[in-house]
Amino acid sequence: MRALTVAPGQANSLLVTEVPDPEPGGLVVRGLAVGVCGTDKEIARGEYGQAPSGRERLVLGHESLGEVLDAPEGGDQFTAGDLVVGVVRRPDPVPCGACAAGEFDMCRNGRYRERGIKELDGYASERWSVDPAYAVRLDPRLRETGVLLEPTSVVAKAWEQVERIGERAWFEPRRVLVTGAGPIGLLAALLGQQRGLDVHVLDRVTSGPKPRLVRQLGATYHSDPIEQVLRRLEPDIVLEATGVGSLVFDAMAGTAAYGIVCLTGVSPAGRKLSVDAGGLNREMVLENDVVLGSVNANLRHYRAAADALAKTDLDWLHGLITRRVPLAEAEKAFEAAEEDVKVVITLGGQD
Ligand code: BGC
Repeated sequence: MRALTVAPGQANSLLVTEVPDPEPGGLVVRGLAVGVCGTDKEIARGEYGQAPSGRERLVLGHESLGEVLDAPEGGDQFTAGDLVVGVVRRPDPVPCGACAAGEFDMCRNGRYRERGIKELDGYASERWSVDPAYAVRLDPRLRETGVLLEPTSVVAKAWEQVERIGERAWFEPRRVLVTGAGPIGLLAALLGQQRGLDVHVLDRVTSGPKPRLVRQLGATYHSDPIEQVLRRLEPDIVLEATGVGSLVFDAMAGTAAYGIVCLTGVSPAGRKLSVDAGGLNREMVLENDVVLGSVNANLRHYRAAADALAKTDLDWLHGLITRRVPLAEAEKAFEAAEEDVKVVITLGGQD
């Protein structure tokens, strides 16, 4: 069967190659689609990722969607035809306390493995298998859009963390600012809107699908400088989804008192910025502010994300997927095109 593979550490090594069929045991799944995100692009540039031990190449793809072909005897709640997504991370083998508690998204020793990213083959193949304990069933209506589940799980975790932190004292947030209208920002805005908050999204572009998708959600779109937007809004929560250093620091300084800034964007290291560290410290202390980082998601977050997508307007989700590329032309999904939001590679029967 065909798969999209890469040699981690080597730039420009993306290739559609023949790979062995998936191992029997577990769910055997026909791949329908994989999403491409910043992490995949980093791996393709040779800057991130790790092949399985003893191998040079890794099957890429951690934003999965497939259809169960074969479920193990006893059924494990899955049957052929089910729409499923595979979980990205697996606990470290030690395991650390967090992994032992099922909170592998919080792994403490960094020895976790991730499908399509770190030491485990991903889901960008015509067929794949997965341990049913790491598969999540989706509403069949999400056949075209369920590939958005993994990024939604990442923001479901971010929201959960924000709420848990907020609950350390009186907390009735009203307004959230999301910085960045890429897939993570837009999905974070969706979950904010589903929580009944006053949602604002900031991005640089002034036309195209991003402002439209924000407005369709009933949220407010901004493209003014962030300091102005923060001054006007004084948000209770900022969900940062760009990884741009200056936005991160502006957000930290610009929340309402008892503000929470959740960072989800991974930025390149080595870019320097001059910051008034004293002023920032003073403001955070005097306002009881919190800044947290959030990555990955555990099964609880995948399930919350599946519930959130099941109640989302399908046309809106369709609008987020701006380009579909067949597996044979997968490298085109890694070239940025104007007005891209989420680009998806279609697998097997769909290309
Ligand atoms: C994925 C996460 C993963 C992270 C770091 C992100 O793109 O969505 O699941 O933990 O990359 O590898």
